[in-house]
Amino acid sequence: MKTTAVILAAGKGTRMKSNLHKVLHPILGKTMIQHVINSVAPAISEKPIVVVGQDAESVMAAVENQANFAMQTEQLGTGHAVLSAKNAVTKDTEIIMVSFADMPMFRTETYAKLIKLQKNNTGPFTMATVIAEDPRGFGRIVRNKKNEVIAIVEEAVANQDQLKIKELNISAYCFDANWLWDALTKIKKSPKGEYYLTDVVEIAVEQNEKIQVIILDDNDEAIGVNTRVHLSEAQAALQKRINHDWMLKGVTIIDSRTTIIETDVEIGMDTIIHPNTIIKSGTTIGENCEIGPDTYIIGTQIGNNTKAFKSVLEFAKVGNHVDIGPFAHLRKNAHLDDNVHMGNFGEVKDSYLASGVKMGHFSYIGNATIHENVNIGCGTITCNYDGKKKHHTEVGKNAFIGSGTMLVSPVEIGENATTGAGSVVTKDVPPNVIVVGTPAKLLKKKEN
Ligand code: UD1
Ligand code: CA
Repeated sequence: MKTTAVILAAGKGTRMKSNLHKVLHPILGKTMIQHVINSVAPAISEKPIVVVGQDAESVMAAVENQANFAMQTEQLGTGHAVLSAKNAVTKDTEIIMVSFADMPMFRTETYAKLIKLQKNNTGPFTMATVIAEDPRGFGRIVRNKKNEVIAIVEEAVANQDQLKIKELNISAYCFDANWLWDALTKIKKSPKGEYYLTDVVEIAVEQNEKIQVIILDDNDEAIGVNTRVHLSEAQAALQKRINHDWMLKGVTIIDSRTTIIETDVEIGMDTIIHPNTIIKSGTTIGENCEIGPDTYIIGTQIGNNTKAFKSVLEFAKVGNHVDIGPFAHLRKNAHLDDNVHMGNFGEVKDSYLASGVKMGHFSYIGNATIHENVNIGCGTITCNYDGKKKHHTEVGKNAFIGSGTMLVSPVEIGENATTGAGSVVTKDVPPNVIVVGTPAKLLKKKEN
């Protein structure tokens, strides 16, 4: 049985007060619409259809080939939006799920459950609701004395009694395709000039059809985003959900409220995450690591048994048994191999530090290759930029770089060589020698 989904994303979402289309706002590393596609896609057999309208190009560019698109040129309501997808749906598709791109918290299991229920349903559709104290402006579910759903009333038009109803429409429906296309043509224009998808309920009732409903247990799934306040609620709920999943996989999170772990992150067992830590997409962390407190990591690969304390790691690679921080900064293409020690106030960029390198305090290493077991004394700097170009520094294994050494690149220090404290090294140093001193005398006049 062919099943697909129509995802509505044509409205701009003016309540966000943003130049960015609502569904392109990110939540923990993914746009809102990406969250919806990720949850919907595994539950259906065909490619989903995204209905676009406002800022169609940016939405389509973000979704790319993960969906087919239908254009709703004028935003005449959610019912109209679904109908605009009709031609994009393959003819023999029997079940059509409808979901909204501003409902990012739905789980795949919930979508799959809706589809399964509808497959076995003789009625025209199955829909999901929640019971909640805070109505959040959602449509209210009206039931008759037999407890059957007979209408969805939008908040704007609800009467005093209806406003008190705690069962809410969360806009996830699964329809018999033929019934849906027919019903959508029967929806009447609202006083506001829109065609509300919610009116399919009354159409079914008029036909004496029963509507199947599942009431969700997890109200977080019902968080819809209309304003930035809702965006923050969705982020908090997703943060809780992601952290919870990691804890169940064996990661210790000391303070879940101040730990933000985005999607597309991997963390090994027995790793401990301390408070105020942000781990962004594209990061993998091995087993037995200790991360944080106050640490920010993005796009970085970290091995096992490594510690990063009060530090910033951006697009870097870190081996096993490395210890970093406090106040260390790894920038793009910093690669710290196993057993490196990188202490306070260090910065490494575009450099490889081989196994056993020690860089304890206040150093900057950029565009360099530092071989095994080199000791980088306090305050060492690679002077890698001459104002125009970056140059390379190479330090041979077991070399000892004295405190405050300036390595003026391009320059190479031989294996086992030593530089004295405060040396300014402008020429290559052969292996096994000691160099000292500074050449800071007049070299030449600057050319203009
Ligand atoms: C809708 C429901 C409401 C439900 C709530 C929560 C209707 C009439 N109301 O209200 O019962 O409680 O969602 O999920 O369905 N869109 C289009 N084209 C349009 C209009 C909207 O594509 O012409 C898209 C929007 O981009 C958005 C989604 O449909 O992704 C929902 O629209 P929105 O205006 O946010 O509806 P709600 O007021 O939240
Ligand atoms: Ca909405």
